[in-house]
Amino acid sequence: MTTNIVDVDDLTGDQLHEVLDLAAELKAAQRAGDGRKPLTDRTLAMIFEKPSTRTRVSFETGMTQLGGHAIFLGPDDIHLGHGEPIKDTARAVSRYADFIMARVFDHDDIVELAEYATVPVINGLTDDAHPCQTLADLLTIRERFGGFDTDVAWVGDGNNVCQSFVIGAAMTDIDLTVATPEGYGIAGDVRDRAAELGNAPEETTDPDAAIEGADIVYTDVWVSMGQEDRREQKLQDFDGFQLTTDRVGDRPVMHCLPAHRGEEITDDLLESDNAIVWDQAENRLHAQNGLLAWLAE
Ligand code: CP
Ligand code: NVA
Repeated sequence: MTTNIVDVDDLTGDQLHEVLDLAAELKAAQRAGDGRKPLTDRTLAMIFEKPSTRTRVSFETGMTQLGGHAIFLGPDDIHLGHGEPIKDTARAVSRYADFIMARVFDHDDIVELAEYATVPVINGLTDDAHPCQTLADLLTIRERFGGFDTDVAWVGDGNNVCQSFVIGAAMTDIDLTVATPEGYGIAGDVRDRAAELGNAPEETTDPDAAIEGADIVYTDVWVSMGQEDRREQKLQDFDGFQLTTDRVGDRPVMHCLPAHRGEEITDDLLESDNAIVWDQAENRLHAQNGLLAWLAE
């Protein structure tokens, strides 16, 4: 049966650890100048409805490193959703490519893509989830802490990046506290899935209470792609949630990037040695290499 990665819990706990182990192995080999080519002659079709720096460049570079090839399909390049139903794109592209990665707005669209594709579909971000980011985040935390016995405070919007991290944290027993303004918490189904996995996050509207007991503080933009018309309202609603150097002290700070400096995080904090955001960004490449190689096994 084809494995799709619509969210992190499409993997079992054991499979998640296998992917992270493979990612670490491929990263070490690449760094030692002994890069492996498990995807020789394989093609990844990359569908983008939204812009991207990290996701596009890391997947494309990863396919090159692993011996395969990636095709970039931007919003004006294919008929996805306009001119052709998603289910037709899914079946046609599956006849050419070995994997499909897609970044779309509506989460239902990736679910439909996965339902009709006959090759693995990887979610490269939807309005509700960002599993590839979580894989990179888990790899980063494991490298830094030697495991997952950590307390993480998420401070900001209970958005796509947060929701996949909630699932990843539940699967690795990370102690997670999610601090959001009232009305911006995680979706009920995400909370339920995390609880079923045995580790739902604590939820609060007090950022300082969340940070107090944390080893790591994680944030993301307040205005996600596609929410530009809600910008003024969100800036008001998130007043008091900005991460500053004073607030986080010497805790490592994570951000999936891109960052909106002066909104969810100050420029000096993002530029400080406490920010481990470039390790996270690099690990998008290695985590996805691990995932692609695992899917190809
Ligand atoms: N973190 C992340 O997905 O970045 P991009 O939007 O640049 O791909
Ligand atoms: N929450 C952000 C993440 C970008 C990687 C967005 O959806 O725009």
